[in-house]
Amino acid sequence: MPGNASENKGLAEVIPIRSEAGLEHLWLPYAQMKAVPLPLAVKATHGCRIVLADGRELIDGIASWWTACHGYNHPHIRAAVERQLATMPHVMFGGLVHEQALTLARRLADLLGSANLDRVFFSESGSVAVEVALKMALQYWRNRGVYGRDRIVAFKGGYHGDTSGAMAISDPQSGFHGTLTGALPQQIIIDLPVDEASTATLELVLAQHSERIAAIVVEPLIQGAGGMRFHDAQVPRTLRTLADRYGLLLIFDEIFTGLGRTGTMFAFEQTGVFPDIITLSKALTGGTLPLAATVARRHVFEAFWSDDPAKALMHGPTFMANALGCAAANASLDLFAREPRLAQVAKIEALLRAGLEPCLKLAGVKKVRVKGAIGVVELDRIENINQLRQRFIEEGVFVRPFGSVVYLTPAFTIVEEDLAKLTSAVVRVLA
Ligand SMILES: Cc1ncc(COP(=O)(O)O)c(C=O)c1O
Repeated sequence: MPGNASENKGLAEVIPIRSEAGLEHLWLPYAQMKAVPLPLAVKATHGCRIVLADGRELIDGIASWWTACHGYNHPHIRAAVERQLATMPHVMFGGLVHEQALTLARRLADLLGSANLDRVFFSESGSVAVEVALKMALQYWRNRGVYGRDRIVAFKGGYHGDTSGAMAISDPQSGFHGTLTGALPQQIIIDLPVDEASTATLELVLAQHSERIAAIVVEPLIQGAGGMRFHDAQVPRTLRTLADRYGLLLIFDEIFTGLGRTGTMFAFEQTGVFPDIITLSKALTGGTLPLAATVARRHVFEAFWSDDPAKALMHGPTFMANALGCAAANASLDLFAREPRLAQVAKIEALLRAGLEPCLKLAGVKKVRVKGAIGVVELDRIENINQLRQRFIEEGVFVRPFGSVVYLTPAFTIVEEDLAKLTSAVVRVLA
């Protein structure tokens, strides 16, 4: 965004934003502010549509960073939030609890019951949920009198968020935080055990350093924001085996994969193994309000259960378990229970497969991969990402490529016609 007032005025005329003066004061995400194109002003959303201030409507291909799984403004979630707003938008969670949080904790514990994940710590963003998981894992060992297990093993291609601890376990390159290398805690970032050689390398690291390692963290089945890379269910199984062999905790970051996105409620259901800690956010509130959860198995919680106050988990974000967020999440879970979301995801998967397949014939396309409501076209490279993004807008769709991938993560409620428009826009633009 230009710093020059007259240039700004010109840009604001192109895309009418009522309070255009405010642009001078915004610092936008993941953007070189000197070169970033003017963001599109949005005045409303509904279903799978984004309504721009200039009246254009875009079909949304990514559901606001894959959060709005029931589509925007779902009446059931809106009504629940409105009811909650009228009685209590928020109350601090220290010394107080409320019905929405209690209900949500119970429902999450029920959903995760097969994995014995039944102790829920709420926070307000995915990154913080990851920080809490790391803190649980690190303190788990100290509470048990084991010192020195201060390292985390995580994987190349992974992305876990933008706070310090989360950055330190993300791939330094594809995880966006390369410029801070050296300034973050040193963790062990290694190749996923996808074959014999990488499994042997990982095992060697664990064998040599396990007494310094607290936990292994992975996004099961799909590494999302680090490049939309897929791996086989064998990988989490291998990680469970190795974690057990070397006595480490295993954390599944399901902030992207959880809540239906990969075709089951949680990705781990397709692996046959369970984590010791899971993180959830994004679609937890159906994309309406910021809320996250870090859910631990009983044995993790028990390490904190003590007569010693120093063994408590010393964490408590101001807005943890926000009542509006919990009301939205409960309403979102109602929709998962009463509407055929997973069947919709299965249908989307088939349509994405068919709709993106023509990309395979295009020059510069390396791979097409689809799982659940996630469709990815990996290119050799993207020369001009802003131009590519603009081309999608011209096609009437909102698709936001990054790195070398163009991806679709639509709402599960998207109608077939809109999904066809998205996939054909991808084919046309890439052609
Ligand atoms: C797997 C995963 N973990 C953590 C995060 C961080 O979540 P948030 O952006 O809410 O902090 C993300 C965000 O994309 C994610 O995909």
